[in-house]
Amino acid sequence: MEVRFRDVTPEKIPADFLVLPVLENPLQDTVVGRLDRLMKGQLSARIQKARYTASEGAVLLHATGGSMAAAHLLLVGLGKASDCNLDTWRKVAARAKKEASGLGVDELAFYLPQASDPAATAPAIVEGLLLASYQFNRYRSENRVPPALKRLTFARPGLKRTLALDRSIKLTQELIQGVFLARDLVNEPPSVTTASYLGKQALAHCRGRGVRVEVWNKKKIQAMNLAGLLAVNRGSTDEPRFIVIHYRPEVKSKKRIAVVGKGITFDSGGLSLKSAKSMETMKLDMSGAAAIIGAMSVVGRLAPPVEILAYIPCTDNLPSGSAQKPGDIIRYLNGKTAEVVNTDAEGRLILADGLALAAKQKPDYMINLATLTGACIVALGAEIAGVFGNNQPLVDIIARCAREAGEKVWQLPLAKEYREDIKSSVADIKNVGGSHGAGAITAALFLREFVADIPWAHLDIAGPVFTEKETPLCPKGATGFGVRMLLNFFATFN
Ligand code: BES
Ligand code: MN
Ligand code: ZN
Repeated sequence: MEVRFRDVTPEKIPADFLVLPVLENPLQDTVVGRLDRLMKGQLSARIQKARYTASEGAVLLHATGGSMAAAHLLLVGLGKASDCNLDTWRKVAARAKKEASGLGVDELAFYLPQASDPAATAPAIVEGLLLASYQFNRYRSENRVPPALKRLTFARPGLKRTLALDRSIKLTQELIQGVFLARDLVNEPPSVTTASYLGKQALAHCRGRGVRVEVWNKKKIQAMNLAGLLAVNRGSTDEPRFIVIHYRPEVKSKKRIAVVGKGITFDSGGLSLKSAKSMETMKLDMSGAAAIIGAMSVVGRLAPPVEILAYIPCTDNLPSGSAQKPGDIIRYLNGKTAEVVNTDAEGRLILADGLALAAKQKPDYMINLATLTGACIVALGAEIAGVFGNNQPLVDIIARCAREAGEKVWQLPLAKEYREDIKSSVADIKNVGGSHGAGAITAALFLREFVADIPWAHLDIAGPVFTEKETPLCPKGATGFGVRMLLNFFATFN
């Protein structure tokens, strides 16, 4: 997609399709007023007749009939000024593209209102257009791909192409590839996305992009004593993998960050078998892993001055004669023992290895992403991730980075009142909580046993990684949730 900038008034923009973003009460918009006079009142009449209020995402398409240079004018609502943020711009762009594709147009012009800052809105518009253009078509015999946008023109009087604008748009285009990789990895069928496949994909997409990748096989995993991963993998006919991706900045690094992702390539529950219904989408259970691989595949472009260590334990969770059993006990490398009461609470078992191993590197921060509990979806619904942490400033930064990416998170407490729920009668802890409910919290409390008091944030992304219906920025399926939050977090050290 070619991006251009033009210093021009709205009526002179030569385009098939001109998008004009407007705040609520469009008749008060000065650009609408100006165009309306050119159209001899036709535009305001249309707005009134359609009762068009420019609420967020609402569109009004108008054929200009030669009254201005653009053939079609599309008003897109920004809603109330006080609610308008970068995510509004992403969604507005996505909506405009949908209208344009409907007319078979492959070129868009976007008028940037005087009140908006192009340095913020232009990259957000590009991001929205790209996110909305994603398709997973590998398994369709008939490709229903809508035409890709060939050219995007930003216009307004006084608008100049600057090096900074060019750079941030180019960077946006590059970083979005990380989101697409995460979506692809999750959308791929679970018998394709095995642990070894994830290892190969990490190598293929990260090597030579400013990071080092190692994929540990079962022998190495045994040598490293990753007991949780080995326990969960016992039911499988596929070997586990432990992926290590290491980014080292060229400048002297300010901090060391460890990120850990849950890579359960399919979660049947193990011997504590799930119901058929609950299993339907369980290929999504490696979304934490996918988000990290996606982010690490493009982090070299961002080039933050921090060292990043990514640890990704991968296996499926299946029942078999050799599978781990309820009642088994795992001895972890940090010395702690955990009783496996329910083999379906497997995510925390493999994350514990990753966190304990990462803690040994004494990072400044640890962050884990995991589709950990159905309870988190009960608490926050399918669109909002839970964030927990032992360090409030870190949780606040993570929440801000997510919010700016348009990825919704909400903090849940590491309530010490529920710590007794994971006490075991035979081991140090057990892998499910007791009578309190609060399944998302007891899972987080289990993880905390492995972070050695290092500032740590845990994101339970079970809900937002997958959408059951098409949304403005994503078709049904994997969303790539977490990639942009992570990249924003890495970028805060710049
Ligand atoms: N992978 C699931 C959590 C999940 C559920 C993710 C729904 C996405 C959508 C996890 O491994 C799991 O099975 N958790 C159990 C824990 C329980 C056995 C304590 C759950 O949430 O039911
Ligand atoms: Mn499970
Ligand atoms: Zn799981």
